[in-house]
Amino acid sequence: MNTKVVKINRIQPNPGAIYEAGNIIKSGGLVAFPTETVYGLGGDAFNPDSSRKIYEAKGRPSDNPLIVHISNITDIDAVATDIPAQAYELAARFWPGPLTMILKKRPELPKETTGGLDTVAIRMPVNEVALDLITASGGFIAAPSANRSGKPSPTQAQYVIEDMYGFVDMIIDGGDCDIGLESTIIDLTTSPVMILRPGFITYETLKEIIPDIVFDGAVIDSDSEEPPRAPGMKYRHYAPKAEMTLVTGSVDNVISYINDRIAAKSAEGLKTGVIATDETHYLYNADSVKSLGSRKNEKQIAKNLFKVLREFDDEDIDVIYAESFEEKGVFRATMNRMIKASGNKEVRV
Ligand code: TXA
Ligand code: MG
Repeated sequence: MNTKVVKINRIQPNPGAIYEAGNIIKSGGLVAFPTETVYGLGGDAFNPDSSRKIYEAKGRPSDNPLIVHISNITDIDAVATDIPAQAYELAARFWPGPLTMILKKRPELPKETTGGLDTVAIRMPVNEVALDLITASGGFIAAPSANRSGKPSPTQAQYVIEDMYGFVDMIIDGGDCDIGLESTIIDLTTSPVMILRPGFITYETLKEIIPDIVFDGAVIDSDSEEPPRAPGMKYRHYAPKAEMTLVTGSVDNVISYINDRIAAKSAEGLKTGVIATDETHYLYNADSVKSLGSRKNEKQIAKNLFKVLREFDDEDIDVIYAESFEEKGVFRATMNRMIKASGNKEVRV
């Protein structure tokens, strides 16, 4: 398949290209596009063939439902039914933005889009290119993250091109994603309301509006017997090629443990990497040491994680040791992705 790549951003708006991209989606094609969280791989949410094509392009199991992206809050009624008042309250406060709500789906929405479930995930992104594209394509774009299944979600167009070139009709390069981690997902069809995937909109913030909100058990306990309620959370997502270990403990213990392991792995002839922070990166002796940013800036740490994982892939690093973060606020979302990237390999020192 021929893939057209176009750049669109605030300085270079390109209404012609948005119109063309909208027509591609309307006629059943696929367009990869920027959002404030990560890049999405979009097709017409009401066209079952488009959803099938998305699964194929991603190499993703088709029981893993897609998020429906809208560009007007009121369009929620066209895809969902039995909507609780709380959903409108949340939409008024957090949309457009990185919050996805699970609601009961309307029968008109094809089951291919929702992976056979009778619920639907809905989100209104804040990124302007995304909003313009959604409107131009008829209002309802089904989109997972635009990575090949198993790879970290793409936060820059170059990674979308790496994964999706030849698999989609168009890739819109809108620059770096502002947040860099996927949206917070909450399920409003359960009582109490549940967080299925932590994100930039935190538990602490959501609790102000929904005081009894809880985490899906499988999200806080990665060894839980119960499968996660978001089907996609059961996969070892975000996986770098290297074997990754997350190291938790006092700063001094973490640094000395990691340096010991690095020495041992180097002696075995392996190429080593460390995921560090601005406060510590100069203290490690690995082949490649990358800082996620300052521990004082949880947003910066979140934004850099997937980029750093992809960079280690490009450098053919064999083993990665990563510092960990306190599980609160936005750090909780970062830690959730790091635990997955490590395939649950956590060491306490
Ligand atoms: O920030 C985001 O949410 C990005 C951008 C592109 O919007 N999208 C994204 O999509 O991360 P994806 O497909 O990579 O992750 C969606 C997650 C999956 O874990 C999926 O299983 C879950 O949402 N999900 C979708 N519909 C669901 C439903 N009806 N019930 C439970 N989980 C659902
Ligand atoms: Mg994904």
